Amino acid sequence: MIHQNRRKELLSQLDDNCVLILSTNPEQFRNGDVTFPFRPQSDFFYLTGFEEPEAIAVISKESYSMFLRPKDETREIWDGTRLGLTQAPSNLKLDHAYDIGQLEDKLAQLITADSCIYFDAKSCTLDSKITNLLSQYNLKSLQASLHEMRLIKEESEILTMQKAANISSAAHTLAMAQVTPGMFEYELQSVFDSHFVKNNTQHAYTPIVAGGKNACVLHYIENNQPLKSGDLVLIDAGCELDYYASDITRTFPVNGQFSEPQKQIYQIVLDAQLAAINSIKPGADVHMPHKIACDIIQQGLENIGLLAPGESLSKFYMHGTGHWLGMDVHDVGKYQVNKQHRVFEKGMVITVEPGIYIRKDDKIDPIYHNIGIRIEDDVVVTDQGNTVLTGSLIKTINEIEALMSQTNL
Ligand code: GLY
Ligand code: MN
Ligand code: MN
Repeated sequence: MIHQNRRKELLSQLDDNCVLILSTNPEQFRNGDVTFPFRPQSDFFYLTGFEEPEAIAVISKESYSMFLRPKDETREIWDGTRLGLTQAPSNLKLDHAYDIGQLEDKLAQLITADSCIYFDAKSCTLDSKITNLLSQYNLKSLQASLHEMRLIKEESEILTMQKAANISSAAHTLAMAQVTPGMFEYELQSVFDSHFVKNNTQHAYTPIVAGGKNACVLHYIENNQPLKSGDLVLIDAGCELDYYASDITRTFPVNGQFSEPQKQIYQIVLDAQLAAINSIKPGADVHMPHKIACDIIQQGLENIGLLAPGESLSKFYMHGTGHWLGMDVHDVGKYQVNKQHRVFEKGMVITVEPGIYIRKDDKIDPIYHNIGIRIEDDVVVTDQGNTVLTGSLIKTINEIEALMSQTNL
């Protein structure tokens, strides 16, 4: 029902002659006969609820059709059951089901000369085929309307995101409790792998488990170095549950105790993050969390002499403070409308993730070298303000040191 309601809502915003075409990828080969785990395309799944690979939905005000893989006894013995053309209409609430192999013959029949076609091609072979078949039409993008819908989460979506956030938060707690000096980064990653699989979820993105200086490489994913006593470890990891992502970063000391310089930097990031989260409420400018975080980090680094007054912050903080979160970890939705920052609305979900990254540099006091800290939470805009979906996961210095001094989790 939920997918049907979304289709109805989307169609109500478009002209009567609109035809929406959405595809989901065929299986992708990793190597040899091995495929990557399949995951439907987010826009497609949002509107159809169909989880099989290699399908195309054709949606208009008059009819709803799907091209999909037919039943195939041999392939089903190897790869599992397919819904097939007979079951598809009742199961997916379709008017018509077609064999994906008949795309060339049938697609044109679903379109008339005055159809207004919405189709956003991605870089996959199926989409090139569609683009070729529709070469005589002027194709419009569905993103402006569909992605605005996806940006505002329904209650059921927020519930799923809360569950994903809880599972990821529990994994971060286990990692804090189980880390020991000498452990390799990948061993600490295995805490997340195991916890996510036990909860029937998977990583929403490649996790970062970065000890010491590795935390200053923003997209570090090798995760293959030993963790040293005296260093911090930064972990950016979150699970995807039922196609909804969580996205959490915590940074903590490998030996359970922050050094004084680490505490100084950590507290600046935490102060920036808390103030940024506090600014999120309906009607507030979506750029405000970043501005607030930058101001606090700038002031904090000036106070301890790492920046001269007014000196650019960009060598220590070079990324944004957040992004929309939903079915995609960097979720869809515009940040600006008419070249102006938009304002928060109830149901939007955004990450808040300031950081400070101090690489080795002769001009910087060595006590701060190789400290990389980020703290990231997932925040949903509510009627009056916000709720931190990842709020159950500890992040103050005292909380982290207290938890890490117990060893029996
Ligand atoms: N984990 C991806 C990000 O924080 O943007
Ligand atoms: Mn993020
Ligand atoms: Mn992240």
